[in-house]
Amino acid sequence: MEARVPPAGGNGPAPTTAVAAVARRADGVSPRCPRESCKGTGPTSSAPSCGRQPERTGPGTPHHREGATLSPAPPHDAYSRGNPTLRFLEEFGWGDLVSLGRLTPLTLPWLVGGRLDALQRRLARDSLALLRHRRGQRVLDACCGRGYAAAALAGSGCTAVGLDVLPAQISQARQRFGQGARLGFAVADVRAPPARVEGIDLGDASFDRIHCLEAAFHFGPPGRSAFLMEGFRLLRPGGRLVLVDITWRGEDPHRIDRVDPARLVRDTWQFDEFEPRTRYPRLARRAGFTVHKVLDWSNTVTRPWGQAAALLGRIAATPLGRAALRARRPGLGDLTLEEWRHLADVARAHHAVASSVSYTALVLDKPV
Ligand SMILES: C[S@@+](CC[C@H](N)C(=O)[O-])C[C@H]1O[C@@H](n2cnc3c(N)ncnc32)[C@H](O)[C@@H]1O
Repeated sequence: MEARVPPAGGNGPAPTTAVAAVARRADGVSPRCPRESCKGTGPTSSAPSCGRQPERTGPGTPHHREGATLSPAPPHDAYSRGNPTLRFLEEFGWGDLVSLGRLTPLTLPWLVGGRLDALQRRLARDSLALLRHRRGQRVLDACCGRGYAAAALAGSGCTAVGLDVLPAQISQARQRFGQGARLGFAVADVRAPPARVEGIDLGDASFDRIHCLEAAFHFGPPGRSAFLMEGFRLLRPGGRLVLVDITWRGEDPHRIDRVDPARLVRDTWQFDEFEPRTRYPRLARRAGFTVHKVLDWSNTVTRPWGQAAALLGRIAATPLGRAALRARRPGLGDLTLEEWRHLADVARAHHAVASSVSYTALVLDKPV
């Protein structure tokens, strides 16, 4: 199937594998399987293990990588139609992209018209622009979702690979954008990718650029470190990783319990905590990167989204408001009253969380 292009719209650490290195730091002794249920620390451990012994920890041979289930588990429910919040957002334009979107003067008319996709395309364009990629380069879109950014990269003359942990996302990506010589999609957990997947090479230094848009909040703290180290491994010297994520404003991410006490936001999107904004650059440096730039996009992303969520919470809580939304989007007709109430609660919870988070774009370079 031919690829379809979306409309325009340092010298680092020792070459060990990311997961093993994270685990080693965590227990200070030896590589440990990151699987929650596995306590084994290797051949000498007496703790119960998943049965897979640590392998050689040189480049390209990740410890327990193949088939391992990392914690937190993949967010299947967040991106399925069983999530009323997702269904609602799809009615208002979420489709090729599943991200918040960026509100700029140019995208304001689209917001008023209820077309969130234009905001999302703007965000993806701004985020991709940070890559400074060139024709002919090999680029990984880590956590590609439904494939838009990978397809855009292929459209600009790169060879693009989109990886996502959810098979449903990858099958949507293939349906929406196809596959071809310059565009490939595959299912993989980017916290511990295999050396090769579905014929796609994920070996050391095999990419010029890596892009990861609004996904790392799903990874968990060890998973974020692991991803940064894997990203470092996958990039050639001189390569660049653009990591855009929702981040915690303060130092203590567990304080999310105060603004999301019923876990409405966290359970809707299946994650536990955001990475504190100040900690990300430290993690990136520890993985070997030079931090080229850290941008704060809160005013154009999380802040307006928080305001929109407050408004939605009020509208969805009243029969009149619900009727108005249904009239505008008949596809919402199948939401039950219980789902509407849940949606209103979730929207209010998003408003509460929005004031404690920021939206951060990190531009990270692998030294030559
Ligand atoms: C908010 S969506 C963003 C998707 C895409 N980047 C976009 O902008 O449309 C987050 C995506 O990350 C994926 N994801 C979460 N954890 C992952 C992991 N460990 N490995 C690969 N993909 C993951 C989810 O399946 C989901 O598609």
